[in-house]
Amino acid sequence: MLDMLLTRRSCRKFENKAVEAEKKEKLLQAAQLAPTGKGTRPWEFVVIENKETLQELGNCRNPKQLFLPETPLAIVVLADTQKTDTWIEDASIASIVIQLEAEKLGLGSCWVQIRLRESNQGMSSQEYVRKLLGIPEHMAVLSIMAVGYPIEIRPAHTLDEVDKAKIHIETY
Ligand SMILES: Cc1cc2nc3c(=O)[nH]c(=O)nc-3n(C[C@H](O)[C@H](O)[C@H](O)COP(=O)(O)O)c2cc1C
Repeated sequence: MLDMLLTRRSCRKFENKAVEAEKKEKLLQAAQLAPTGKGTRPWEFVVIENKETLQELGNCRNPKQLFLPETPLAIVVLADTQKTDTWIEDASIASIVIQLEAEKLGLGSCWVQIRLRESNQGMSSQEYVRKLLGIPEHMAVLSIMAVGYPIEIRPAHTLDEVDKAKIHIETY
């Protein structure tokens, strides 16, 4: 796991190649095996590969997320806010699990923040994505996970980034 965490980097440039159905399935299985507070499993996911929708999705942030229209696969991570008060944590864990499973499958990924962000269309990112995809009000939109075969290979993290000063033993 540590090796994977060292080599995983956010990827914003993808090959023009679809993600195979089996890999998509694995990403969505992984997301739904993520732990949730009290096992409430409040998340749902919208899988997007349609080019026109991806183009529109690029406007979900201000400034525009230019790489989204060029992304082969976007998984929009939603959570039912009526089910649990841990929906932010639950949807965040599912999002990172998607990223780690993507890494394991030889795919690159990038988290696009939607919660608390603004679109370039004069509304919140959440409202914009909700309208675009027909998502009901009680479903919060936390993130969009962009996934595909990476073109750019960025340098791995190193253990030099690990800061001992952040660790407190027994007391702060
Ligand atoms: C909560 C969260 C929100 C992020 N939002 C965005 C985003 O909106 N757009 C983007 O391009 N990258 C986004 N990222 C990716 C970060 O910029 C990236 O993880 C960070 O710079 C560290 O780089 P690395 O992922 O290559 O290790 C986000 C990452 C996290 C965890």
